[in-house]
Amino acid sequence: MKILGISAHYHDSAAALVVDGVPVCAVQEERLSRRKNDAAFPIGAIEWCLDDAGLEPADLDAVVFYERSMRKFDRILTCALRTFPRSWRSFPNAIKNSLGEKVWVRGIISSYLGVPRSRILFTGHHQAHAAAAFLTAPTRRAAILTADGVGEWATLTVGHGERRPDGGTAITLLREVRYPHSLGMLYSTFTAYLGFAVNEDEYKVMGLAAYGRPTMTGAVRKLIRRTPDGAFALDMDYFEYQTTAARSYSPRFVELFGRPRNPYEPIDVETAEGQRFADCAASVQRVLEDTLVEMTRALQRETGLSDLCLAGGVALNGVANARILAESGFERVFVPSAPGDAGCALGAALYADRIYLGNPDRDVPDHPFWGPPVDAEELARAAREDGQTVEELDDAVLIERIADQLAAGRIVGWMDGASEFGPRALGHRSILAAPHSGEMRDRLNRDIKDREEFRPFAPVTPIETADRYFELPPGGARLARFMSGVFPVRPEWRARLAAITHVDGSARLQALEREMAPRLHALLEAYGRRSGIPVLLNTSFNVAGEPIVNRALEGYSTFRRCGIDALVAGPTLVTKRAVSPARPLKEEVA
Ligand SMILES: [Fe+2]
Repeated sequence: MKILGISAHYHDSAAALVVDGVPVCAVQEERLSRRKNDAAFPIGAIEWCLDDAGLEPADLDAVVFYERSMRKFDRILTCALRTFPRSWRSFPNAIKNSLGEKVWVRGIISSYLGVPRSRILFTGHHQAHAAAAFLTAPTRRAAILTADGVGEWATLTVGHGERRPDGGTAITLLREVRYPHSLGMLYSTFTAYLGFAVNEDEYKVMGLAAYGRPTMTGAVRKLIRRTPDGAFALDMDYFEYQTTAARSYSPRFVELFGRPRNPYEPIDVETAEGQRFADCAASVQRVLEDTLVEMTRALQRETGLSDLCLAGGVALNGVANARILAESGFERVFVPSAPGDAGCALGAALYADRIYLGNPDRDVPDHPFWGPPVDAEELARAAREDGQTVEELDDAVLIERIADQLAAGRIVGWMDGASEFGPRALGHRSILAAPHSGEMRDRLNRDIKDREEFRPFAPVTPIETADRYFELPPGGARLARFMSGVFPVRPEWRARLAAITHVDGSARLQALEREMAPRLHALLEAYGRRSGIPVLLNTSFNVAGEPIVNRALEGYSTFRRCGIDALVAGPTLVTKRAVSPARPLKEEVA
């Protein structure tokens, strides 16, 4: 049975294809359209999925959309009317947006793909999140928590899933918190207040939080109160997102926290104002963590289960995830590689397969590589035409050469096989560099990523040695599989891992299993033989403002425009003619 899942029209559109119960491909529209966070109907992603599988739209048994658009429209309408006349300015826009595309999804899908309307199905937004987490995790029974900004009405759900011995599957969402009460919106409101882009830069708040102290948790708790049923409620006097798209916080919010940050002014945590913003970030981060820990602890007691699946945009918060693992009582916590709305494309397809159509349970491969493959010949052709040095090498030789380059302080663009599904580079579209010096971090920030100094870079290390460099609690390696947890760097290694150690001594590491990305695993070992430390800095292969590279040509264009010294796709190695002077590692190199 062939099922296409689609998420679209909010942010991060995507398509995913499930054939006979197993994902065969999934990709975010932005990787193909090259528009970051592209929310358009993902026609490029759909076409690629169908082409890749050799299918025509007529071959599809079902096309599943990731939310019930009429219910979402109902929420938008109800909220606009409830707050009328305060909402009168935003009302026409809300209606236009919804009527334009969001409501008439069945018609849009049918007209784009030519599939009969009867084959077009819908899941609830949080059902799709729950399925993306539970049905891709190697567990048979687990509690589930989903949390985001908002879907139709729900902003957070708790429940459980079971893959039964008879092949049946059940996903039960027990309770939900409804809009406008939302952990995602609470965090996004602070994201806006701190001068960052909502729905995009939430991770910057988490990065900034490490520079601050949670001195304002009392104030944040005025905004959110726990309710006797174990949920929470926001005091809407502090917010305006429910009445206008123009602003998310109210004048009362500003009275409580002070002047918001001007997005055009850089943050300097050395100043009192900069420190206030960092303290503010630390405070909302702490309250978010505490709330999630309390809710997951209650869910563990209620279900008695040892596994927890997390999804929704809030599950991108690696610091909160690590605390949930440490404090909730769950032994294992699973976060999929795409916990946000893009992942709902895969979740919706899997939900329809197992639950609506009742197809038998299947194991889903435990990796994130569902996107388009990289074409090494395309890279070789383009680089040769451009007069670059191109070599095609056996794997063993290539890996040793790249390890030499990294040990000499060079920066490497690394493309390998199918691209990652989800926002993180997990070894197939990565920029790799030596992780030892603060100088390397500054060079990457300055020459390639053009980003704020307070944002940390992440490390990747073989799972076998992760524990040596990082303080991983039981279950930590699982959370680190898709870089979903932030853990302390062991104090004795921090000075030698300065480029990937955040100001609070933590790192969002990827613990790599050999089977998941064997070439990167081999490279880490080869690098370890040179430096004594099999850890590399791993950051997504893109420059500021662009989506992660997809095709070899995009990798090549990025390589030409920034300070990457060498570029790899499969067996092809391109070395920049005027490489930056080698900067040998000091004591680390044997
Ligand atoms: Fe969502």
